[in-house]
Amino acid sequence: MSGGFNTPRSQFGFEPHPTISEAWDSLRRTLVYFRGQPVGTIAALDSSEEKLNYDQVFVRDFVPSALAFLMNGEPEIVKNFILKTLRLQSWEKKIDRFQLGEGVMPASFKVLHDPVRNTETLMADFGESAIGRVAPVDSGFWWIFLLRAYTKSTGDSSLAEMPECQKGMRLILSLCLSEGFDTFPTLLCADGCCMIDRRMGVYGYPIEIQALFFLALRCALTLLKQDAEGKEFVDRIVKRLHALSYHIRSYFWLDLKQLNDIYRYKTEEYSHTAVNKFNVIPDSLPEWVFDFMPTHGGYFIGNVGPSKMDFRWFCLGNCIAILASLATPEQSTAIMDLIESRWEELVGEMPLKVCYPAIESHEWRIVTGCDPKNTRWSYHNGGSWPVTLFDVAAVLLWLLTAACIKTGRPQIARRAIELAETRLSKDSWPEYYDGKVGRYIGKQARKFQTWSVAGYLVAKMMLEDPSHLGMVALEEDKQMRPAMKRSASF
Ligand code: GLC
Repeated sequence: MSGGFNTPRSQFGFEPHPTISEAWDSLRRTLVYFRGQPVGTIAALDSSEEKLNYDQVFVRDFVPSALAFLMNGEPEIVKNFILKTLRLQSWEKKIDRFQLGEGVMPASFKVLHDPVRNTETLMADFGESAIGRVAPVDSGFWWIFLLRAYTKSTGDSSLAEMPECQKGMRLILSLCLSEGFDTFPTLLCADGCCMIDRRMGVYGYPIEIQALFFLALRCALTLLKQDAEGKEFVDRIVKRLHALSYHIRSYFWLDLKQLNDIYRYKTEEYSHTAVNKFNVIPDSLPEWVFDFMPTHGGYFIGNVGPSKMDFRWFCLGNCIAILASLATPEQSTAIMDLIESRWEELVGEMPLKVCYPAIESHEWRIVTGCDPKNTRWSYHNGGSWPVTLFDVAAVLLWLLTAACIKTGRPQIARRAIELAETRLSKDSWPEYYDGKVGRYIGKQARKFQTWSVAGYLVAKMMLEDPSHLGMVALEEDKQMRPAMKRSASF
């Protein structure tokens, strides 16, 4: 592909930043074709490292690529991807002798070429080949999100209306709306079920999955046909959204006031009058959280369950919560306040930490099972991931558009992008950076990691043309306003 081909011009007629055309070239080199059609982008184009599964099209990794293509007026590849993964969903999926749910979407897939017969076939991984046999709970949610982004950006609802797409959506929804023994509306998950696809203590009710669950339910509401089958799901979704938003806004939210309340909690309370409903023991509050919490600001903590609050800050969960309007306008503003006041810790020299803080020593041994890839301040354990740039840009512009905050905030995104711009291309688009401020290229980071490239492009395009936001964000649903105010800051 020729240099800069199809690289969008700045709407103000400026020459685009040289990194942009380089990024487009890199992105186009990652295109994967199946029987002549582009169907996705490969996770990384690094030939110097062992490939493992980085030569596959990951569903989650394709999201920033898809948005870049949609924003650049190239929806075909997104449509092909949606239809191909839909076909994969209908495969029989087994791990050893255990059959997986019908609705499960793959974590990744690959095109196999047979040079002798000159044929191409697809191979998918639903967790049965993945390191640690992890479940891609996020894939189905991202799939529904992409279907809405495609529909919103092209104005073409015929894809979403296809009976196959409607069925695919219903199968995903059946999985996550099924009844069980749960006492919470949040979705119970195993470890490694999302972007953090290794053991990192995210099992239980991780915020990333809960926010994605909420986002997917809201997207599905806009896409489901109101026929007999669709209607039944719509009713279930509306009920679940109501319970989910109440639960997360109330129990996952942490600010100074809430922290102080937990610090003073009584334990062993019985009956529905209990204040400390999950019996969280104040002694389990980690030292760092008292310093980390700013006077103004707050965030959704990582996980809430019986006697469990994981106070770590996770980037994706908080950003998606804003985009989906799971966070109230006040909570959204507070999340941005926290990023601003904890810039050094969360952004440092390379935006943005996947989670904060890192776990170390004994805790690292117990929680990760001594994972050498997830040592402190590396990879999923407090590493810095350029792909998250896209979230920051989206989140900020979303807030601005929603007029929740005063002027000046896009500067946060600009600042973050400028930081990244100085290094990303020079460092050959690494997958992640290590260190407390993200100064070092990650120990085992792949180079030419596609979502690092696409995340940068999407962030740039969104800042340039904030109208792209409608594709990724959902307005607040007034009916879901909390009935009860838990914290003095709202
Ligand atoms: C790593 C990441 C995962 C990503 C995959 C492909 O396993 O943890 O989130 O999808 O690489 O880039």
